[in-house]
Parts: sequence; C-alpha cells; structure tokens
Amino acid sequence: MGSEEETYGMAHRQLNYQSPDSLWLNMGLWSDPDDTFQDACKRLAMTLAKIARVSQGCSWFDTGYGCGDQTNLFLQQFRPARYVGVTYEKSHYIAAQKRVQRPSDCQVTLLKGDAVRPDSWSSDSELGGGAGDIRGSENKFDVVTCLDCAYHFRTREDFLHLLHRKLLREGGTLALADIIAGEKPWTQSLNWWNPVSTLGVVLMQALFLLIMTATNVPLTNLWPGPAHYEAHLRRAGFVDVGVTDISNQVFPGFLAFLERFRTQRLPHIMVRDGFSYPSRVVARWAFWGILAVLRFSVAKRWLVFVLAHGTKSRE
Ligand SMILES: C[S@@+](CC[C@H](N)C(=O)[O-])C[C@H]1O[C@@H](n2cnc3c(N)ncnc32)[C@H](O)[C@@H]1O
Repeated sequence: MGSEEETYGMAHRQLNYQSPDSLWLNMGLWSDPDDTFQDACKRLAMTLAKIARVSQGCSWFDTGYGCGDQTNLFLQQFRPARYVGVTYEKSHYIAAQKRVQRPSDCQVTLLKGDAVRPDSWSSDSELGGGAGDIRGSENKFDVVTCLDCAYHFRTREDFLHLLHRKLLREGGTLALADIIAGEKPWTQSLNWWNPVSTLGVVLMQALFLLIMTATNVPLTNLWPGPAHYEAHLRRAGFVDVGVTDISNQVFPGFLAFLERFRTQRLPHIMVRDGFSYPSRVVARWAFWGILAVLRFSVAKRWLVFVLAHGTKSRE
C-alpha cells in the first residue's frame, strides 16, 4: 500500500446509521436478528478482549483500532495502565485522535502506520509517550489484540514474528479476530464434468480475487483452515494456541445486515446525497453484486472467520 492509500476511508459512517455517534467497522458477532451493527461490533470486540485475558492495569498493544470506538470501549471496560494502538488509515487515525477519551490513569498513545513495520509508526501527538519511544526500544506488552484487521497485514506471518520478538513480554497473550480460508483451497472447487457450473465458479473466483485485491487482502494471508493458523502461531513461538471457527456467528448476521442496508437504507442515502438516477441504479447493482460474491464465498468456505489466541512462552 502507498502511504496515503485508503481501503475503507470514512464510508462506514453510513453503516453506523443506527447510532450516528459510532464509527465501528468490523463484521460483528451476531446473536440476535434484532442486533444493531454497533451491538454486534462491540460484542466481537469484548469477546476478543476476554480471549486475550486482558486485566486491569495491563499494558496493551492494539492494532487496527479503526476510528477509536474499540479504544474507548477497552479503556472504559478494562482500565489498562498503558494502551498503544496502531492503525493504517490516516482518516481513521485523525478521527480516533479526536474521539478517544483518555482516562487520567491511563497512558494512551495512538499511532498511524503499518503494524508490521515499526519504522512507519508515527504520531502527531506526543501525549503519553510518542512513536519514537515505542519504535526505539523493546516494548514488552502484556497483551496484543488485532480486531478484524490482521488479514490486511503484509504479511500476517511477519507480524506474528515481530510480536513475539519485540512486542510481547514472556507470558504475554495475543488474540486476533481474523479471516482465513477453509481447508479446501478456493482455487480448487471446480467440477469439469459440469461445464456450466464450472463456468459460474470460475466467474465467482475471478470476482472474489477482484474483491480481495480491492480490499487489500494479500492472498498469502488466506491460510487454509484453523489447524494451519495454529501451526503458524506455534512456528512464531507461541504456546497454548487455539483457533476457533466462528463463521456461523459472524457471516450470516453481517450479510443479513448488509442486505437490509442495501434495500432499506442505501436508496435513501443516494437520494439524500443527490445521486443521479443512472448512478443510483449502478450503485444498487454493484452493491448487490458484491453481496452475491460474498455470500457465495462464505457458502463455499473460501472465507472463514476465526478467533485465534496464543501465549509467549516463558523461557
Ligand atoms: C475492518 S477495519 C476494523 C476497524 C476496527 N478494528 C473496528 O473494529 O471498528 C480494519 C482496520 O485495520 C487497519 N489496518 C489495515 N491494514 C493495517 C496495517 N497494515 N497496520 C495497521 N492497521 C491496519 C485499517 O486502518 C482499519 O482501521
């Protein structure tokens, strides 16, 4: 990614229409059909923090903090003594700088940059320790979390090694809410005895590839299944590792929410924002098409949502 490139920008403001002060941007953990987007996003964030075994007074490194909603939630709920976040998109960093409420008993540092490259981390504000402090020395955090973002990293594997080598203290814990692929490679779902269906699958694979490229997900991060993920965690030096497939609690709810958004909310937004009739038709079809490819990819298990965790062993 170039330094100013943005995958998401602030378009997700629209997804937060049920609670306009929020700027959440994850796929959520859905337990009830009446969940709002914010409910589901918060539930995923809280679940991740619990898996990471966060405790009051800990020192916490958080990646991909978006526009700061998770930062505020984590600071309120868990009262860490130190919180350092790094996120890639400049617009998210700027929004978070304005929105994060810093408790007096917590040192909060928000950084922008690429989680995998400490030399890219920077901060306009030196409040509570600047980027230099964090880049320069070995930082031994108690906890590291990645909420719906590590699939973007180039690469996730390099990040796991960086964490283990530099960021976590011995006995420190790591938790990720993440996306991988299923055990059966997405490139091999073809049935050449049925050319019509094969053609359909090839088309879907091409569109899937297009969406992965447009959303900046390196294919090398689509590890085939939870066992493969666990092996990567162990190879990076983690112990007590676990990876759980929670696709059924994430994708159906998220896709149903996006479908409701498409049919009920999108038309209203486009009229409000003065879209011409032809551009409204194109936008509605484009949204429909992207949803269809996502539904297909989820059904084929080309995308699998997991919760992963590990501990840095004590020497
Ligand atoms: C899907 S959003 C999730 C945002 C937030 N975690 C939430 O739940 O609302 C992905 C986030 O990851 C960040 N991101 C993407 N690539 C990154 C990287 N290489 N290093 C750090 N953050 C990254 C983006 O800036 C974005 O804020």
